[in-house]
Amino acid sequence: MIAASIPDYRELARKRLPRFLFEYIDGGSYAEVTLRRNIADLENVALRQRVLRDMSRLDLSTELFGQKLALPVALAPIGLAGMNARRGECQAVRAAETAGIPFTLSTVSACSMAEVARAASRPFWFQLYMIRDRGFIRELLQEAVERKCSTLVFTVDMPVPGSRYRDYHSGLAGAPGLRGAMRRAMQGALKPDWAWDVGVMGRPHALGNVAHKLQGKTGIEDFFAWMRQNFDNSIAWKDLDFIRSEWTGPLVIKGLLDPEDAREAAALGADGIVVSNHGGRQLDGVLSTARALPPIAEAVGDRLTVLADGGVRSGLDVLRMLALGAKGVLLGRAWAFALAARGQAGVEHMLRLIEAEMRVAMTLTGVASIAEIDRSILAQR
Ligand SMILES: Cc1cc2nc3c(=O)[nH]c(=O)nc-3n(C[C@H](O)[C@H](O)[C@H](O)COP(=O)(O)O)c2cc1C
Repeated sequence: MIAASIPDYRELARKRLPRFLFEYIDGGSYAEVTLRRNIADLENVALRQRVLRDMSRLDLSTELFGQKLALPVALAPIGLAGMNARRGECQAVRAAETAGIPFTLSTVSACSMAEVARAASRPFWFQLYMIRDRGFIRELLQEAVERKCSTLVFTVDMPVPGSRYRDYHSGLAGAPGLRGAMRRAMQGALKPDWAWDVGVMGRPHALGNVAHKLQGKTGIEDFFAWMRQNFDNSIAWKDLDFIRSEWTGPLVIKGLLDPEDAREAAALGADGIVVSNHGGRQLDGVLSTARALPPIAEAVGDRLTVLADGGVRSGLDVLRMLALGAKGVLLGRAWAFALAARGQAGVEHMLRLIEAEMRVAMTLTGVASIAEIDRSILAQR
């Protein structure tokens, strides 16, 4: 299949990945109400068509946290992305560089910060989860400084993991020991291209940044057990002072859905926030990001940089998020699917599609630069 869109990449990823990995990316929590809302609410935002406005010169570039970007997008942190293609995070960081946008490395990536730094030629962003062991957090932050990460994305919507039914059905969760390992191995054997690329050639299969804390355990259930034990549900706003004192660069708080929380983030001096519900993977039933974003942008948009993610499946969706008040958009599943389907080349192509779709959308809504995009390009305001 020739991929013409992000949904096409989703189909290609479904064909190439073992079931447990595809469902891990594609799924949401509980009944997946929020996952569906993210996509539906965003695509239902109607654009206002304008014509005959000389759109021969478009500028899609922007600046986020002092960094010039070719497009107003960044690759969101995706845990275990390195299992979707051989040394996946290294391929993705190179694709982001080719496109002139930032890549965000997850705390729970397959490739370590050191490995990604070797693959990269420019600074990338690092995403941090709140882990109980503050000494370990300090280590991670010091390493992020050493590796010249340019922005810290601190994710706050995962004090406990949401239950994802699909992971139980696929054998990724709830099937410990040999039984689970056999199920996953059988699913891998049915996908020989993946089995060779990642299963054989993509080793080691560990969590690069966390491996030394797992004391030699490398099973996927060891990883989930570590997450359950180490993610900190006692975290409160005051703990951000600790992060602030360890990290002097731009700080972006990811996972806000409420204007009151956004005001707290602004009061604490965060440089940015990401309006996000973790791609519908945490508290099911919460608002879609397309609906949560406008009041948040209204409340704090003049005090910090508001980014958003969730349900973005085209360049048109990027434009919609910007019109709803975001200054930049994070792509989540879009890049995970493209990476799974075609590695670095897939992510590069997906980003070219986003750019081409944005050009069409900007031309036909009559906006020549990113700064001009606001609610005036929406049909219902
Ligand atoms: C497979 C998968 C793994 C993710 N892992 C992380 C992670 O490690 N850290 C994090 O902050 N967010 C993580 N997220 C959430 C994304 O960063 C982002 O918020 C979400 O994917 C946006 O929604 P979208 O996929 O609909 O674009 C993950 C999302 C997916 C789909």
